[in-house]
Amino acid sequence: MDKTKLGFVGLGGRGRGLLGLLCEMENVQINGICDLRADLLEQGAAIVQEKAGQTVDRYTDFDEMLDKADIQGVVIATSWVSHVKLAIAAMKAGKYAAFEVGGATSLEECWRLVRTREETGVPCMMLENCCYGRTELALLNMIKQDVFGELVHMRGAYGHNLSESLVNRIEVNHYRHHHYHHRNGDNYPTHALGPICNMLGINRGNRLLTLTSVASKARGLHNRAVINKGEQSPEAAWTWNNGDVVSTTITCAHGETICLTLDTCLPRPYSRQLYVQGVHGLYMEDGNQIYLENVSPQYDTWEPFAPYLERYEHPLWKWFQAAGVRGGHGGMDYLVLRSFVESIRDGRDTPIDAYDAAAWMSITCLSEESVALGGHPVAVPDFTNGQWIDRQADPVCRYALDDIYADLF
Ligand SMILES: NC(=O)c1ccc[n+]([C@@H]2O[C@H](COP(=O)([O-])OP(=O)(O)OC[C@H]3O[C@@H](n4cnc5c(N)ncnc54)[C@H](O)[C@@H]3O)[C@@H](O)[C@H]2O)c1
Repeated sequence: MDKTKLGFVGLGGRGRGLLGLLCEMENVQINGICDLRADLLEQGAAIVQEKAGQTVDRYTDFDEMLDKADIQGVVIATSWVSHVKLAIAAMKAGKYAAFEVGGATSLEECWRLVRTREETGVPCMMLENCCYGRTELALLNMIKQDVFGELVHMRGAYGHNLSESLVNRIEVNHYRHHHYHHRNGDNYPTHALGPICNMLGINRGNRLLTLTSVASKARGLHNRAVINKGEQSPEAAWTWNNGDVVSTTITCAHGETICLTLDTCLPRPYSRQLYVQGVHGLYMEDGNQIYLENVSPQYDTWEPFAPYLERYEHPLWKWFQAAGVRGGHGGMDYLVLRSFVESIRDGRDTPIDAYDAAAWMSITCLSEESVALGGHPVAVPDFTNGQWIDRQADPVCRYALDDIYADLF
């Protein structure tokens, strides 16, 4: 079988991990790597040599890689503000673009992504790996089988204590640092929101309508700086603008509500706090528990979710477990990359598309706006321009997120 030929840009910690995974993947060939830093290019080339047994062309200029490398698509793992710019350049050069997660700085950025996709006809995909999480896909399967009944309310979070890395890596200009310093909103909504949007059929018969967002005071990073570096340290003198806990409520066209939380500056165990509630019952990630009326053994009492995970395993995860789970974050990094690679191989659209990326990323700049206005509601644009009402189904494939095709496994 022909190999899918890719370029790769952004060789930080995340990029090098994804690059290694791609090098080990069947029928994939890396034909160019790019970063602004020569030392990281060296490291990237060493990964390709070690894992794929080949030398690879190195570029410090992304446009030059697009121009010269023999590639069908690019994977972009740079910092947040450059994802869309680089994806647009790739689409204009006729290359499929996949980009890492992050939020938008402006609605204009989201519109540019959508318009470039429409004008060039070249697909792009946000690499929202959590859409391919085992639990998220089992829940999607349960929703498709109507286990929860009509959905009413969803919750999710990015609950991850980043205070150590934000404070200790100031000197290496960590990409997140500036955002916490200058901005105030939900800067990382998609790990929670992506899977929720798939479950609610957002951009496919449903859409995000409005949001309101409020932010708590910012204390966690200063507190961490004092603990780690001392009261008199330069780090303790830094000011932080982003509230420690940002709470966002989104309304949807069919009346569902979504509560999102960004909680990254205070001590806490990791959780995406997924919560799915319909007229028959609900699932809650914290405690990994479920309650279904007339199904759960005791009235209004949680029961463990583990047996439901087995029973409603998504066919993609049944296949993945049989084939051997690989890659980081419990396997979902492999699945999201493979989803992109097979989209190129088959010459079709990607399961997470430009409209999804635009809607999900827009939550960041809209939440900033709402926070700045004291929690005032703001409208989420319809990036599909009305197509959401009766859009064609996504491509039929194993990696589809709008439907489940068990007969393809
Ligand atoms: N999906 C996940 O689970 C997950 C996990 C970790 C990080 N991420 C995302 O991955 C991305 C990268 O994270 P990281 O921690 O590796 O960041 P990083 O800042 O360490 O690395 C980014 C790299 O991109 C390079 N770069 C930036 N702009 C460039 C340009 N125009 N041309 C060439 N190179 C450029 C930088 O030199 C740097 O080496 C972020 O968007 C982050 O949110 C996702």
